[in-house]
Amino acid sequence: MSLPYSEKLIEYFLHPKNVGELSDADAVATEGSPACGDMVKLYLKVDENTKKIKDIKFKSYGCASNIATASIITELAKNKTIDEAKKINWKEAADELGGLPPAKVHCAVLAVDALKTAIENYEYKHGLVKEKRPTTIELIKNRLKHVINPLTGLDVLKVNFIKDIKLEDGIIEIYFNLDSDHQFADSIRDEIKERLEPLWDIKEVRVIFNDETN
Ligand code: FES
Repeated sequence: MSLPYSEKLIEYFLHPKNVGELSDADAVATEGSPACGDMVKLYLKVDENTKKIKDIKFKSYGCASNIATASIITELAKNKTIDEAKKINWKEAADELGGLPPAKVHCAVLAVDALKTAIENYEYKHGLVKEKRPTTIELIKNRLKHVINPLTGLDVLKVNFIKDIKLEDGIIEIYFNLDSDHQFADSIRDEIKERLEPLWDIKEVRVIFNDETN
């Protein structure tokens, strides 16, 4: 079967660069695609003085296009400053790979979103956000839109997994319609913390499952 991919894309799919984790990452982001339920996780190590990306790694639970675009994005971003890396877009990644079939554009968008969110998380954590807007329930919901339940491929808001969200004195409490022994409870908890803890005015994020309420 001949695949509608360029040779370069197939090469990056078969031999992706920068796959893996960074245990001492300065920022991490996981993005899920509402279009297909796939996920990509990206790790950044940033030089504190020059703000250049010193190291970058990714893991993908996505298709060939996602693996190839995530890989090329890590190569494009390495040694760039975070401001330069923010400008990388899916079109640039797709062009670098010799084009993408239209049905696979969202896979490149997913990879670029992971890079942008990781940089945003770094900026929040390091007080680099210029316009510091206070966190609201709306902003929390926006950040949760890309947390995918691996079982259904749908985001946690869409499947009504969340009963309630409370925000008070820099503490976010998210009440789930699931028990803590649900097969993906731990990964959902980790991902939610990863998405909300970098917010500049948030001191603590509590994810509370059904059986953890009194
Ligand atoms: Fe899901 Fe490509 S089809 S990332």
